[in-house]
Amino acid sequence: MFKNIFGSEPQVHASAPGRVNLLGEHTDYNGGFVFPTPLPYQTYIEAAAAEGLEAYAENFRERKSRGLDVAKQGDWLDYIAGCVWVLRQHGYAVPGLRAYIRSEVPMSGGLSSSAALEVAALRALRALYQLPLDDVQIARLAQQAEVEYVGVRCGIMDQMASSVGRLGYGLFLDTQNLQTRLAPLPQGYRVAVVDSAVPRRLAESGYNTRRSECEQACELLGVKSLRELSPTDLPRLEALPEPLNRRARHVVTENQRVLDGVQALLQGDIKRFGELMVASHISLRDDYEVSIPELDELVEAELRHGAVGARLTGAGFGGSTVALVEASRYEAFKQGVLQDYPRARFF
Ligand code: GLA
Repeated sequence: MFKNIFGSEPQVHASAPGRVNLLGEHTDYNGGFVFPTPLPYQTYIEAAAAEGLEAYAENFRERKSRGLDVAKQGDWLDYIAGCVWVLRQHGYAVPGLRAYIRSEVPMSGGLSSSAALEVAALRALRALYQLPLDDVQIARLAQQAEVEYVGVRCGIMDQMASSVGRLGYGLFLDTQNLQTRLAPLPQGYRVAVVDSAVPRRLAESGYNTRRSECEQACELLGVKSLRELSPTDLPRLEALPEPLNRRARHVVTENQRVLDGVQALLQGDIKRFGELMVASHISLRDDYEVSIPELDELVEAELRHGAVGARLTGAGFGGSTVALVEASRYEAFKQGVLQDYPRARFF
């Protein structure tokens, strides 16, 4: 509790959820479509106005403080510092923050614990200093803090899912113009988030390599972003050198899968949505090459034990999978998957 650490009452309470992506992977930095949903796990912040930064992270039982002029340190406080920094960059006279942080979002499983922390911090700052920011602006600022301050070149999906997503709904997001549409998740099904328990290996370097491969493909194709291409352009991609041809093919087909998937859900065609999830995994495995054997094994176990669809979720290279399972079959599914892949952690 804030009071136990700082000796006074907090002025505001804020929170924001982690996310799992249902469809549309590695498309957000290509101006494409994504379809994430918030998780029922949140990061909570109790906060008060302050000069400089002072924060306590309950998960680490760690208290840290820092002046606003001190450079980033490569620790959890960077995320809070980045949020204050980005607001100041945009001309908001924010003097600092005192915060008590508690998070239920699993860390390093690819479930956007960092976006949850950024969005919660920005919500706390918005409330404290009465900043005229809407939820889309909060998402943009959170992404800018992560890219420019923390130094991770992520897209906008995670922050948008955390800031404007709604529990029980998939968030269809066009990352080119940030237009969104909510689609209710099917009744009688559960979204199973299953961690492979393999920490993401080389995720950052692999992610940056994929981004630059997409940029090279654009240059060779003479387009600004792969978003400009649709499945009718697939024959053109064959002329690209390996592996750029496969990287571009993933992005183009994945965008189409998001459009088809949202359509299928709105029509109640869960089977089709599941097939698209599986096709997404295969494309991420073979064309985009961001899967690892353990994720493939886990996805196969999930499909064997009754999931209508399953795939890796997030950046890949380790981390979590997402599966869609009939609620009535969930317990049997879980037991079966645990038998075949005992390390699996269910969220
Ligand atoms: C990470 C990034 C997102 C997105 C996914 C891949 O989660 O933070 O912006 O690029 O990888 O879809």
